[in-house]
Formats: sequence, C-alpha cells, structure tokens
Amino acid sequence: MTLPILITGGTGFIGSHTAVALAEAGQPVVILDNLCNSSPKVLERLAKLGASPVTFVQADIRDSAALDALFARYTFAGVIHFAGLKAVGESVAQPLRYLDNNVSGTINLLQAMDRANVRRIVFSSSATVYGDPVHVPIPETATLNATNPYGRTKLMCEDALRALHTADPRWGIAVLRYFNPVGAHESGLLGEAPNGVPNNLMPYITQVALGQREYLQIFGADYDTPDGTGVRDYLHVRDLATGHLAALRALDEPKLLTINLGTGRGVSVKEMVDTFARVNGVPIPYKLGPRRPGDVAACFAHTQQAKTLLDWEPRFDLARMCADAWRWQSMNQQGFDTPL
Ligand code: NAD
Ligand code: UD1
Repeated sequence: MTLPILITGGTGFIGSHTAVALAEAGQPVVILDNLCNSSPKVLERLAKLGASPVTFVQADIRDSAALDALFARYTFAGVIHFAGLKAVGESVAQPLRYLDNNVSGTINLLQAMDRANVRRIVFSSSATVYGDPVHVPIPETATLNATNPYGRTKLMCEDALRALHTADPRWGIAVLRYFNPVGAHESGLLGEAPNGVPNNLMPYITQVALGQREYLQIFGADYDTPDGTGVRDYLHVRDLATGHLAALRALDEPKLLTINLGTGRGVSVKEMVDTFARVNGVPIPYKLGPRRPGDVAACFAHTQQAKTLLDWEPRFDLARMCADAWRWQSMNQQGFDTPL
C-alpha cells in the first residue's frame, strides 16, 4: 500500500495543482488547509479531476493538537508544505501576522513531524529570497537578501530547515524556490482566484481581458531591459506541480536540496501582454505608469540544478500559460463560486 503524502495549503493555487499531479502518479494525498485564502469548492473540482484527497482536514498549521491527531491517524510518506500567506504589501502592513503564520506555523509543523517520525518535507520557497539579484540567470548559490517581511519569512524558514538538517541528518528536505507560477489546469476547473485587486501580472491581465478592469497599468517602462519593462521567469503551474513530485522522489534518502524552479527564460511585461492578446485573440489595453516600489528589473532562474538533481524540466511554453490562464478565467468569472 502506498503511504499518503500530506499537503498543507492543498486547496490553494499551487497545492491544488500539485494534488492533481500526485493523483496522476497514483500517489494518495491528505490535504490540510485552514481555508484562509482558498475555497472549499476546490475539493469539488479535485473530485471532478479524479484527484480527491483521502481526507480533507480544515485546520491551521499552528494548531499542534490538530497536527498530532492527523499524524496519529496516518503514517505519511512525507509532507509538501505550501500553507502560508504570500501578499508582499500585506506583509509590510502586518509583519507579525506573517511571522506568526509562516514562520511559527512552519516550526510547529516541523515539530509535529519530528514527534511522528516523519522527516521528509518539500518546502515552498520563492525567488523573492534573492532580493535584487546582482546577476541573471540566478544560481542557487547567489546571495540571499529579503526586501520585505514576506521574503524574510521565507528566508527564516529556509534557515530553520538548513539548521535542522545539520542537527539531524535523518531529515530529507527540498527547498524549492519558485519563480513566477502562472497558468491553470487545462480543463478550466482549477486556477488562481485572488481576493480583491490582483497584485500579480497574470491575474490582472485575465481580469482586463474579461472586462472586469479597464486596462493594465505597466509598472515602469524605463528599466534596463530590452523593452524597458520588468522581466520575470513565468512557469506553468502544471510544471511547477510535477517539480514537487520530482522533489519527493529525489528525497528517497535523507538529504538537503535547494533548487530553483523556473524555465530560465526571461519574459518582459510587454511580451506577456502581446502573447496573451495574440494567443487568445483578446486585446489587452494598457497604460505605462511608474515603477512599483520594491520591484527589480529582471529576475530569472539558472535551471541546471533542477535538471541535474530532479531530472525535471518544464514542458509548457508562454503561449500555453496564456491560453490556460484565459480558459480558467473565462470559464470561472466568479472564481470557484462559479457553478460547475
Ligand atoms: P495560496 O494562497 O493559493 O495557497 C496557500 C494555502 O495555504 C491557502 O489555501 C491558504 O488557505 C492556506 N494557509 C495559509 N496559512 C495557513 C495556515 N496557517 N494553516 C493552514 N493553511 C494555511 O498560495 P499559492 O500561490 O498556492 O502559494 C503556495 C505557497 O507557495 C506559499 O507558501 C507561497 O508563499 C509560495 N509561493 C507562491 C508563489 C506564487 O507566485 N504563487 C511564488 C513563490 C512562492
Ligand atoms: C511579486 C512579489 C514577489 C513574489 C512574486 C510571486 C512584489 C514586489 N513582489 O513578484 O515577492 O514572490 O510576486 O508571487 O510584489 N506588473 C505590472 N502591472 C501589474 C502587475 C505587475 O506591470 O498590474 C509587472 C511587475 O512590475 C513585474 C511583473 O509584472 O515586472 C510581474 O509582477 P508580479 O506578477 O507581481 O510578480 P513579481 O514582481 O515577480
């Protein structure tokens, strides 16, 4: 019998796609999420995709009793830990909430895992830990430097995981630094459903495409990049999901892995807007505006470690990311509240 994997934050954007990837690989999962930033209706969508979890538990990773009860009920093969808060601006306004949720929550989870003798974890980190990178593409050995409280919580968790592995080499730990996940499941059943005004580029573009917002504001056209707009490394969330499967497999024996997950290709805001409009046949009106505070000119991954250590490479290109993001948004104008 295959032991289940625990996915914390499994009803969220990346967690739900990862649940599908694990189901496709015949891997049973249990999902724990407090639903602070996701909908329980995600579970109905997972069921339609044949990816229902063995169990869904609505609980908080800071709740030790709930974690202990769950670890007593199941013998887990490992944990994929997505649960966390991720809005940069909110983290500046509410740093203690971010530290409590992301850092205390992660430490609480690690302690519960240790008590239960489950010492295999894949952790969601972010390219934000590179701050303003000196060189692109960014290798995993680059200097780490958080520029906001959210980024600092990721760095603190990374530090805790490194210290833990040094103290107790029985742990298998994969720190995955995601670049910019976008796109959606090709069925249109799963995707990104941000609350309020989207902070990130792709959900903003899809809302402009729907007519829910009048135009996209491009944050800065005077960067030292080929067309002056910001350059990022967008990767399809379906590819990101399979990266987690690859990381779990790579942790068949205890080790510490720190790996970038990106495509290695830099894409500018203008290229993204043009590609989206071309692929989907929907115009995206935009206006050039000032830079967003805290933004960097260019950020894209050095990807050799993912190839070498995980045997993982992304499969989907930018056109496919745009097509899938638009299918999701146009089929789900009210996000997960849209009737199936
Ligand atoms: P998301 O908000 O869609 O998913 C996170 C999930 O965790 C949500 O369902 C939320 O309800 C849950 N959660 C939050 N705090 C919790 C707690 N204390 N206890 C239990 N559940 C809790 O976000 P996502 O985009 O799927 O991101 C997943 C992870 O990846 C996060 O840790 C995020 O910081 C990291 N990450 C995301 C991106 C990105 O661009 N989306 C980039 C880099 C890293
Ligand atoms: C943001 C976060 C980062 C986080 C990442 C993934 C900030 C400062 N950084 O980074 O910590 O890890 O999301 O969740 O919030 N853009 C526009 N108009 C918009 C929105 C974005 O022009 O309305 C531009 C941005 O200036 C940037 C690019 O689009 O050049 C991508 O932006 P975004 O999707 O927010 O991602 P990041 O800036 O990489």
